[in-house]
Amino acid sequence: MRMVDLIAKKRDGKELTTEEINFFIGGYTKGEIPDYQVSAMGMAIFFKDMTDRERADLTMAMVNSGETIDLSAIEGIKVDKHSTGGVGDTTTLVLAPLVAALDIPVAKMSGRGLGHTGGTIDKLESIEGFHVEISKDEFVNLVNKHKIAVIGQTGNLTPADKKLYALRDVTATVDSIPLIASSIMSKKIAAGSDAIVLDVKTGAGAFMKTVEDARELAHAMVSIGNNVGRKTMAVISDMSQPLGVAIGNSLEVQEAIDTLRGEGPKDLEELCLALGRQMVFLANKAESLEEAEEKLKEVMRNGKALEKFKEFIANQGGDASVVDNPEKLPQAKYKIDLPALEDGMVAELVADEIGTAAMLLGAGRATKESEIDLAVGLMLNKKIGDTVKKGDSLVTIHANRENVDDVKEKLYANIRISDHAEAPVLVHDIVTE
Ligand code: URA
Ligand code: CA
Repeated sequence: MRMVDLIAKKRDGKELTTEEINFFIGGYTKGEIPDYQVSAMGMAIFFKDMTDRERADLTMAMVNSGETIDLSAIEGIKVDKHSTGGVGDTTTLVLAPLVAALDIPVAKMSGRGLGHTGGTIDKLESIEGFHVEISKDEFVNLVNKHKIAVIGQTGNLTPADKKLYALRDVTATVDSIPLIASSIMSKKIAAGSDAIVLDVKTGAGAFMKTVEDARELAHAMVSIGNNVGRKTMAVISDMSQPLGVAIGNSLEVQEAIDTLRGEGPKDLEELCLALGRQMVFLANKAESLEEAEEKLKEVMRNGKALEKFKEFIANQGGDASVVDNPEKLPQAKYKIDLPALEDGMVAELVADEIGTAAMLLGAGRATKESEIDLAVGLMLNKKIGDTVKKGDSLVTIHANRENVDDVKEKLYANIRISDHAEAPVLVHDIVTE
């Protein structure tokens, strides 16, 4: 088999066989096929697309390019949740204990964040003593006994995706549905869960700027998952403005605690319930999505979800008393309000730019090596559709430096006040096949 023939075949819009896809991904992973040929193939795929079968084969070829995680020692149906990225997205911190409180195993492998704010691990590490450096055996035991554990990324998962993603980044082939869908799904499948719930974001803070594009990506990923034997569902949700009110590591832990108590921001609660009910349903713990949602609300009301969060923190060496004494979380030295300059309604809160403002304070990493400041971030006092009077605080800036003029400028440039505005629809669609 020759790579040049496969490139020509795809260039002419024909369908690649399973063997051909395995040859291309296998050869690329081993360094036998050079970047320039794979670049040409990426561009051919970008223009000619792939069939559902090719997409599933590409995904599995990337899964098989490296190690995979075996979760079979964990009892029950393991359901993973994945979000396609967002700003101030606190859903994982809420969903993990919420779902575990219903005896659904949450075996989470997580990474550190790059960009806007930290990843789930960074957020959890704002709790004194909490750590994710646990052995594989300890991880499995914790999930079997307590239904919840988080471990740091281990092993060489999907090396083909790492190489291909880096190449796509410099050859203008990132924005291709078959390539994005197979990239994301390969990582989820390699991580070993039985079922997957996807949160596909749309809007300014997301990869997919329109609902139509997000729907197409969601269908592509759900189809790949179902074709390779992992039950998969997707929610399409709004990321035109940040989710919830907190952006920043310890601020989001606090927000998650409030939400588990049923006292969190309404949009965050709504999305957690929309994703959570699919997780409960896929785990076979409810007959219908409605019943699943009822069960989730029940553990929020009766305190079991919050108890599960405490148990989880203590199991991994953390100080669980932060749940009742949130002032023990890292606190920023300065809290500075951003006053509205006019009367009106909030019409825009550009998600990715607001995320960048939080990064300027030190809440996220510019490079993999950067240190992050767990205490700093932003609290949104107004969201799209809210009425404001001149002088009202739009945002409270939690900073460890006194002068935050750069942050204020960024925020003013990305918060638009107008005569009339309506809150955006949060959940646009549910995709099941
Ligand atoms: N995120 C990924 O992991 N892969 C892509 O291709 C795009 C976004
Ligand atoms: Ca948030």
